[in-house]
Amino acid sequence: MIGVLVSGSGTNLQALLDAGLPIVAVASNRSDAPALALARASCPTAAFALGDFPDRSARDAAMAGWLAEQGVRLVVLAGYMQLLTPAFLDRFPDAVVNVHPSLLPAFPGAHAVEEQLAAGVEEAGATVHFVDEGVDSGPILRQERVPVLPGDTAESLHERIKAVEHRLLPEVVRELCAR
Ligand code: GAR
Repeated sequence: MIGVLVSGSGTNLQALLDAGLPIVAVASNRSDAPALALARASCPTAAFALGDFPDRSARDAAMAGWLAEQGVRLVVLAGYMQLLTPAFLDRFPDAVVNVHPSLLPAFPGAHAVEEQLAAGVEEAGATVHFVDEGVDSGPILRQERVPVLPGDTAESLHERIKAVEHRLLPEVVRELCAR
């Protein structure tokens, strides 16, 4: 049973849904995330905004508790843009994965696509990895290269990276479900 955390547009969530994976809950740090709206037709959803809790740890404990109540065993971060604390991670040991638009450990963080273009790399990429307390750190499960093309903008490059993410993430999640 899979729980998905989202903050953004939700194209990776859509890819997971299209793959027919057993998604039973979707949560976000933003009540207005388009991805959360997209999920509402498929499963229970909930928003856990930082401002509604005394601190990050209390928010993460509440979010983890809600996911566990829905029967979640594996958590997928599909464009979730906040760090997770031990209050969350300790609840799902070795069972939280993230997708990121670079060849980690290069270019972690929220602006990976822009930073790869600015650095003039010839190859960007997509990575799926286990999540720890760091910024896009944790053991790498799968990586694929995406060439940077002449004239690429952040938008065009991100679109090609996402096309890879939409194949890679469901593949890895399916494998983890079969463990
Ligand atoms: C994806 O490209 C994902 O790799 C990235 O956010 C995008 C979400 O798109 N995640 C990170 O940068 C994590 N550091 P989506 O909302 O359309 O799935």
